[in-house]
Amino acid sequence: MTIKLKKQVIDILKVLKKKSSDVVAAELAKELKIDYIVLMSTINDLIEYDLGGFKEEEIYQISLNNEGIDYLKNGLPERKLLNLMLKSKIKEINFDNLLKQSNLEEDIFYIGISNLKKNRWIGQSKATGENKVYLISEEFPQTELEKFLKKFEENCVIDYSTLSKDHLSLIETLNRRKLIKKTRKTQRIIYLTEKGKKVSISKIEELKQISKISSEMLSLGTWKNYNLKPFDVTKPGPLLKAGKIHPLINLINEIREIFLSMGFTEIRGPIIESAFYCFDALYQPQDHPAREMQDTFYLNNPKTAKLPEKDRVLAVRDMHENGGESGSTGWDYKWDIEIAKKTVLRTHTTATTMRRLAEFYRNNDKVPVKVFCIDRVFRNEKVDKSHLAEFTQIEGIVIDDNVTLCDLIGLLSEFYRKMGFKKIITRPGFFPYTEPSMEVSVYYDKFDEWLEMGGSGIFRPEVTYPWGLKEPTRVLAWGQGLERIAIPYYGRKDIRDFYINPLNWLRQQSYLK
Ligand code: PHE
Repeated sequence: MTIKLKKQVIDILKVLKKKSSDVVAAELAKELKIDYIVLMSTINDLIEYDLGGFKEEEIYQISLNNEGIDYLKNGLPERKLLNLMLKSKIKEINFDNLLKQSNLEEDIFYIGISNLKKNRWIGQSKATGENKVYLISEEFPQTELEKFLKKFEENCVIDYSTLSKDHLSLIETLNRRKLIKKTRKTQRIIYLTEKGKKVSISKIEELKQISKISSEMLSLGTWKNYNLKPFDVTKPGPLLKAGKIHPLINLINEIREIFLSMGFTEIRGPIIESAFYCFDALYQPQDHPAREMQDTFYLNNPKTAKLPEKDRVLAVRDMHENGGESGSTGWDYKWDIEIAKKTVLRTHTTATTMRRLAEFYRNNDKVPVKVFCIDRVFRNEKVDKSHLAEFTQIEGIVIDDNVTLCDLIGLLSEFYRKMGFKKIITRPGFFPYTEPSMEVSVYYDKFDEWLEMGGSGIFRPEVTYPWGLKEPTRVLAWGQGLERIAIPYYGRKDIRDFYINPLNWLRQQSYLK
């Protein structure tokens, strides 16, 4: 049977047969002056006919580091020192003077001296009380190391496998002197199969393959001289890389749908928030550690924020100072309005639900109020695989009469059930603004793991009183981490994936969830 191959494939086959040994793909591509990718796709044709193939091999390469390159150009320190002595025609020199004249760093100078001694070019004596070095040889031929160094001039990198035993020990010396770096690389080796070695080129016919017929070919009838490239109709079409909705946004939309279906209304609030809504209204004392610079991003521009109605600000102040009419003793310190005016990047969306409480008072709203907010928050955190300095919270409140912790647990269980988590667990927690407070975790069966999702609780009277909310009206509140859900939801291990845009993964995501 005759084999039909494209001209390019025949050319490569000829070269391989002539070489009669395996060849490194990158070198062959260079030799044939063709692109590496083109070469490899040509090799695919050889594989198809079982004429050849390629294997992968790990190779170690050695190159000089910056210090090594400097020595290659300007000589090793021992040579520099020797030249200095020869140039000034001195046979003997004070050790410290030589150090000064050499302009070498002290440790390099010592290396130079020690090698000069090893080469038996100099001697050193302290006999007269003076530390001296003197030449003890007449000839100073190139050392093996210097000759070897020159090899890097021709080839910046040297393959470890091509080195002789002597060279290996020189490499060892260079390594000890910290002048080289080693890198590992995978290279492809192209070979001929037995069939490929045996087949005679004369038995191979050139395949003239075309994928299009021109009108000229039709009218001249020359199309008959060509083979039409077969089409594989089962092959998928090219991948379309159209824009998509980011996975986090898809998740946000899904969560939004769940809260809407549970009768909640969405609220939004500013990212640049006052310390008042972020902390003071939440009954966090002004010396609370969460307010510190290392936890919170404070802004210089704008430096201060507008506060709500004066009487409400004073009502919040009273809570801090003495508990106002709530029956609480407050924190018992002098509250400072200037601290409350400071601007911050919102550290939690609880600031936004606080704004809803202010609105409740302002509009004289009626219970029940059920609102949620899914939005970005910022904290001065060290970023790692489970922490980000900016992330998203799923926040919500229910303002209603006689609602209890059981209602809150029921609500959160229902939400997580709709998200696909069947088990949730709540543990006592602490937040300055809720009493009781709960930490919420959900069970993620794929990892057989409990994941901490965030906090929740019932707002303390010190938080609700300034906004006219008193027993039996209570406010259930929660703030959960969106990315915490996103990790198991999308099977990721690293929270940063949602912000660094790993394109390969994003492209695999469906357009809409
Ligand atoms: N604001 C809290 C946080 O950021 C969560 C929380 C919200 C806790 C509402 C209790 C009530 O972690």
